[in-house]
Amino acid sequence: MFLQRRNRILRQSPAIRSMVAETILTPNDFIVPLFINEGEHYKEEIASMPGYYRMSLDNTVKEVKELWSMGLKSVLLFIKCKDELKDNKGTEALNPKGLMQRSIRAIKEACPDMLVMTDIALDPFSSFGHDGIVEGSAIVNDATVEVLAQMSVSHAQAGADFVAPSDMMDGRIAAIREALEENGLNNTGIMSYSAKYASCFYGPFRDALDSAPGFGDKKTYQMDYSNRLEAVKETLMDVEEGADIVMVKPALAYLDIIREVKNAVSVPVSAYNISGEYAMIKAAARMGWIDENKAILETLTAIKRAGADLIATYFAKDAVKLIS
Ligand code: PBG
Repeated sequence: MFLQRRNRILRQSPAIRSMVAETILTPNDFIVPLFINEGEHYKEEIASMPGYYRMSLDNTVKEVKELWSMGLKSVLLFIKCKDELKDNKGTEALNPKGLMQRSIRAIKEACPDMLVMTDIALDPFSSFGHDGIVEGSAIVNDATVEVLAQMSVSHAQAGADFVAPSDMMDGRIAAIREALEENGLNNTGIMSYSAKYASCFYGPFRDALDSAPGFGDKKTYQMDYSNRLEAVKETLMDVEEGADIVMVKPALAYLDIIREVKNAVSVPVSAYNISGEYAMIKAAARMGWIDENKAILETLTAIKRAGADLIATYFAKDAVKLIS
């Protein structure tokens, strides 16, 4: 055969393949989610997230130092709130001495260059397990936004570099930006979960924080997975309102959305490789059905290839080991 063009030429050896690879993972790509619990010297594996842990603050600080030494530069904090501190308004979320605020301070003190991002939503603090304030069976928007803005100020005052609202209330980015400005917190960034879908894949995360909704579901605020244009609308609005980084979540079943958003905005796009996506790989690997390390690299590369500039992932440490 005479072939004018032979595409296999560029695939014939590892050296050639790496020379022409379009997407390369680096430690700078990753945001590491951390689950913090009260107590000391405590570290407990999350049942539905094998190999991932809830830790006390002392252990979290050690972990953060290790992450920094591996080249990882940002963490995303979640705390597990004691049941007796939960109420409808998420009052504990605003406590300047709360676990989140203490954690931010301790991490910034131990590792000042580590970028600390914090989850902004009421669910871990809500007696109803909802991201907002409940009235009857409704999740009310405007009253919730006020609390989210105060919560953001509280995290920023404790030293958070970015607040990351994951609640999907309307108008929260503008309200948070305004509250930060009013309090002189001009350097605090907002990473908005701008296109966050109502997903069954959050299950293991809700186990980790004991934050599952006590009634109903989150479909009146998180997005319907049937929709694509809505993600672009939500994200453009968040950029307009002041989001510095936007996010698509989940990642794997939403690669089309990541690309769509990437093409539509001129701010960095992040994607959250969420708990259920982690659990699926872990479970299949444990059964011996897939190769875990290969699955991690293929998954994360696909998310970056789709358009994510940043990836929040429970596989960050594994990935860094695999690519170094
Ligand atoms: C809280 C929040 C959730 C996640 C991040 N922030 C859960 C939810 O919305 O129910 C999920 C992360 C994951 O599944 O890994 N609003």
